[in-house]
Amino acid sequence: MSHYFVTPAPDERRHDVPAVIWGRSYTFVSSAGVFSANRLDPGTSQLFRLTEPPPDRPARFLDLGCGFGPIAVALADHCPSAAVDAVDVNARALELTTANARRAGVADRLRTYTPDAVPDGLYDEIWSNPPIRIGKPALHDLLARWLARLAPTGHATLVVGKHLGADSLTTWLTSATWAVCRRGSAKGFRVLSVRQPIPS
Ligand SMILES: C[S@@+](CC[C@H](N)C(=O)[O-])C[C@H]1O[C@@H](n2cnc3c(N)ncnc32)[C@H](O)[C@@H]1O
Repeated sequence: MSHYFVTPAPDERRHDVPAVIWGRSYTFVSSAGVFSANRLDPGTSQLFRLTEPPPDRPARFLDLGCGFGPIAVALADHCPSAAVDAVDVNARALELTTANARRAGVADRLRTYTPDAVPDGLYDEIWSNPPIRIGKPALHDLLARWLARLAPTGHATLVVGKHLGADSLTTWLTSATWAVCRRGSAKGFRVLSVRQPIPS
């Protein structure tokens, strides 16, 4: 017989989500109340399929909108010399990302933050399946805020659904003077690489 104090409320019950990322197998812990709680999101899946892990180096990476943490954990796992900051507005997402970092043995180099608690400093790489559904003005503000924290030689890798406005986002980024190139496109998603323009 279960008791209320040992049985989590239904929305807090945790479950496993298996995924293969850049050739390695993971079993993430997830729960209701986070983005794509039951499987690796198809967009995130294409992000990994269309890219390779960054070269390992003592770099600082940001996963913007980490959800339960697949991108942040995979970055930390493939780049043992790097430090990864994982940011989300969802407290449960941050808890799960922390739990997943522990499971993957990368908790010493992966830190989770709410957006306003992130320490200062520049990022060598920003990776994101951004929260398109917050609407264009909020998305543009979000990207403007975090892309401004790219190191001069840094770049961001974003996955965006074509039906969710990947091409209009590219147009906006370009008009905001970012250099954008398409790293790949498959199954309705585009992976964009964004960097500071080379001064003319
Ligand atoms: C499309 S989901 C991607 C989640 C995860 N990276 C993945 O690939 O499964 C976008 C995430 O951004 C988060 N988010 C929404 N608004 C945000 C904001 N202003 N700052 C940071 N994260 C935000 C959402 O809570 C959500 O977890």
